[in-house]
Amino acid sequence: MKITIIGAGYVGLVTGTCFSEFGHEVICIDKDIQRIKELQEGTMPIYEPGLESLVKKNVDEQRLTFDTSPNKGVPWADAIFIAVGTPSSRRGDGYANLSFLYEAAEEIAPLLSGYTLIVTKSTVPVGTARQIARIIKETNPEAEFDIASNPEFLREGAAITDFMKPDRVVIGVESDSAADILKEIYKPLYLIDKPIVQADIETAELIKYAANAFLAVKISYINEMAALCETLGADIIKLAKAMGLDGRIGGKFLHAGPGYGGSCFPKDTLALIRMAQESGTGARIVEAAAEVNAAQKARMIKKIRDSLGGNEAGKVIGVLGLTFKPETDDMRDAPSLTILPALLEKGAKINAHDPKGMAEASQNLPAGITYKETPYEVCEGADALILMTEWNQYRALDFVRIKALMKELLFIDLRNVYEPKALEEVGFRYVGVGRS
Ligand SMILES: NC(=O)c1ccc[n+]([C@@H]2O[C@H](COP(=O)([O-])OP(=O)(O)OC[C@H]3O[C@@H](n4cnc5c(N)ncnc54)[C@H](O)[C@@H]3O)[C@@H](O)[C@H]2O)c1
Repeated sequence: MKITIIGAGYVGLVTGTCFSEFGHEVICIDKDIQRIKELQEGTMPIYEPGLESLVKKNVDEQRLTFDTSPNKGVPWADAIFIAVGTPSSRRGDGYANLSFLYEAAEEIAPLLSGYTLIVTKSTVPVGTARQIARIIKETNPEAEFDIASNPEFLREGAAITDFMKPDRVVIGVESDSAADILKEIYKPLYLIDKPIVQADIETAELIKYAANAFLAVKISYINEMAALCETLGADIIKLAKAMGLDGRIGGKFLHAGPGYGGSCFPKDTLALIRMAQESGTGARIVEAAAEVNAAQKARMIKKIRDSLGGNEAGKVIGVLGLTFKPETDDMRDAPSLTILPALLEKGAKINAHDPKGMAEASQNLPAGITYKETPYEVCEGADALILMTEWNQYRALDFVRIKALMKELLFIDLRNVYEPKALEEVGFRYVGVGRS
């Protein structure tokens, strides 16, 4: 199959690379000239484990190329996957901003040649694929095409594995030819018995939001239980473990922490709430999850402040981890973006480290944070050390060494990575989430 991907971001680049690894010929198009230049030179514009070597392999084997212009890729393609961003609209009303998507549709429409399948890979509200079809028909009434929805479920940090070994592939189609093309593209996964769920286009579009919102609900639920543990003197670790061992509940996404963030859950929950409100049904459980998440971040700020004696002014705070989760450099909606500015505003002095996210973080966090080369440097002279993101390299810190570097021995573990007892034995005051 000849496949063109529009948008070479986290999803588009991984999708294009994995399709080429399946044996298809792929062109990834992005209007970001710098991004395409880097990709053509073999430099990855994002950090994603395993991506660089897979891109190199498929470029070397001449199945994968990158371009800024759709002129070659669009007429050439059997299928075009649109994987541009769909962030929350700037108005703050929760609507998904579909302008990148519609712009892409307008750009590809006049270039279509022969029958082409146009697939939305981006996460989009119900009805968007049909809107794309309308745009294409209006711009190029002669175009021969079908539309389809193929939402993506990969997780940043494990994107290649998730794409190559997904729990399921969802295809939303309304013609046999569209279904046949998508099944052909995903044949390598079908051959290893990965389920392909075929649905109508509207259902496929909604599946993605329903799945993400459910996971967000799970996180907010356990965070609410963590707050309850703190007030009632119970322990969230034991509670979550016992809950998760129930096969009907499952242990994943039951980790108390500073609240969910990232490029998907915050915007997708809001978009689902908006969609439900507009349809007249509402989505009260998801609304509650979003409210609890905002409150959780505020609770973390209070927790830090209280641990520092009620006032962080003049205090030196070391921060380990800035990205919304480990193994990515993505800072979109990371909890650190809410928590650290609040501490800075009250006069805290912050030294921070992140294994891959510092370049991105320095562009998104306010000035005044000092970025350090090693985790131990952030501990120097600190009144508190906060574990914000659970990168593996923070899982076995040398606390005897840290003890000698810090001014006050306060460890605030927002990911519950460490055992309170172990830290207390070295002389630290330990503050976790949901641990009394
Ligand atoms: N990031 C994730 O973990 C993830 C997972 C599943 C689904 N999704 C969804 O996938 C979509 C893409 O997300 P992402 O994180 O990859 O976004 P991203 O911001 O990393 O990438 C989007 C890319 O599209 C490019 N672009 C925008 N308009 C274009 C145009 N007209 N022509 C060519 N390129 C264009 C941008 O330059 C950018 O490089 C979103 O809808 C998102 O919700 C994301």
